[in-house]
Amino acid sequence: MNPPAPLAAFRGALLHFVDDPASAGPRGYEHHVDGVLVVRDGRVAECGPAEPLLARLPAGTTVTDYRGKLILPGFVDTHVHYAQTDVIASHGEQLLTWLERYVFPAEARFADAAHAATAAGFFCDELLRNGTTTAQVLATVHPASVDALFEAAERRRMRVVAGKVLMDRNCPAALRDGDDAGEAASRALIERWHDRARLRYALTPRFAPTSSREQMALAGRLCAEYPGVHLHSHVAENQAEGAWVARLYPEARSYLDVYERYGQLGPRALFAHCIWLDDADRVRMAATGTAASFCPTSNLFLGSGLFDLAAMRAAGVRVGLGTDVGAGTSFSMLQTMNEAYKVLQLRGQSLAPEQAFYLATLGGARSLYMDDLIGSFAPGREADFVVLDPRATPLLERRMASAATLSERLFAFMMLGDDRAVAATHVLGEALHQRDAIPAAGA
Ligand code: GUN
Ligand code: ZN
Repeated sequence: MNPPAPLAAFRGALLHFVDDPASAGPRGYEHHVDGVLVVRDGRVAECGPAEPLLARLPAGTTVTDYRGKLILPGFVDTHVHYAQTDVIASHGEQLLTWLERYVFPAEARFADAAHAATAAGFFCDELLRNGTTTAQVLATVHPASVDALFEAAERRRMRVVAGKVLMDRNCPAALRDGDDAGEAASRALIERWHDRARLRYALTPRFAPTSSREQMALAGRLCAEYPGVHLHSHVAENQAEGAWVARLYPEARSYLDVYERYGQLGPRALFAHCIWLDDADRVRMAATGTAASFCPTSNLFLGSGLFDLAAMRAAGVRVGLGTDVGAGTSFSMLQTMNEAYKVLQLRGQSLAPEQAFYLATLGGARSLYMDDLIGSFAPGREADFVVLDPRATPLLERRMASAATLSERLFAFMMLGDDRAVAATHVLGEALHQRDAIPAAGA
């Protein structure tokens, strides 16, 4: 028998969620001011208060000292476009004209596999610099764009859910699926990547306007055929978009209903935005186990509207946070929480800091149906974590000095923090990003 893998321990303030604090209150999280996270073979062995835990560790166990910093499960970005990294911060349009003017030309460049490989490497590193260890990602219509992303994620051992965008109408010819509506390419990609390492495949009809009825039916069919495959799309983001969908699918009761008619709602289905829904839509999402991604920086940037978290929660819909880069303006989940707070202020709802951090970790994991694997420090979970530095900037340090409670400290992180606050990001226990690492000679 092989000897057990050695333990690695990480000491610092620890916070993780075991339930939604909006319903469970303080029972929703565990916080240790001086805690230790113990990792064996890339998984959480245990986590708890430092003194008793350290006393029990075998002699010689390495203890990484993150005292003075806060260790949290790695952030989960439930909706982001890797091929839009180069058009982040493109001025002056709302959704439909922004897609035409900036996004489609940028995505057309991913026909070039070398461009896709460079972009995928940059994207994965940028996620890690921001403390994000799991992401659900749209590639482009080109199968090689999916290969490039999964290869980059696999090299870093990250958890990524992604797929080839399906579109076969209302888009430039260079971005259109052919006669089989993308079926053969989707099947080949599922066979190659789904459930390999930490990767999962998501069927990705871009949104109802860019898919024919045949392609919408295909996406639903493939979803039923391949167990465990995800479905990822957009819904009810912008009012002009909604009016267009009503013209294209007059038989549907609502925009969401289009997806339901084609068998696209259910567990592991996730839709970004979900702004212009009605109560009946929210009931359908909850009943089918379909999740929503709240993308506040994108919704403000494109002037799309204000997500109604209270209504989603009341209906029992699973909700995670998404950056939605490149309509989103930051890879930082801290900045995403910042703008989530402001969107909800405009709705007369007050986002508690604990709720924001829940959404960015366990809430995201639950939206992706991965909370048995990631999102908390429960024993056996994959040891992906982020280390936040309360002294990252002079202003953060000054504000933290008078933050007396955990809640105040979390709020300072989410309002004032960004990639600078991420001291380190660990994937399966291993540090893949260290903010203050000394660059290698000649680098
Ligand atoms: N709806 C369809 N495609 C997109 C996209 O690329 N970004 C956003 N924000 N919404 C979309
Ligand atoms: Zn999007």
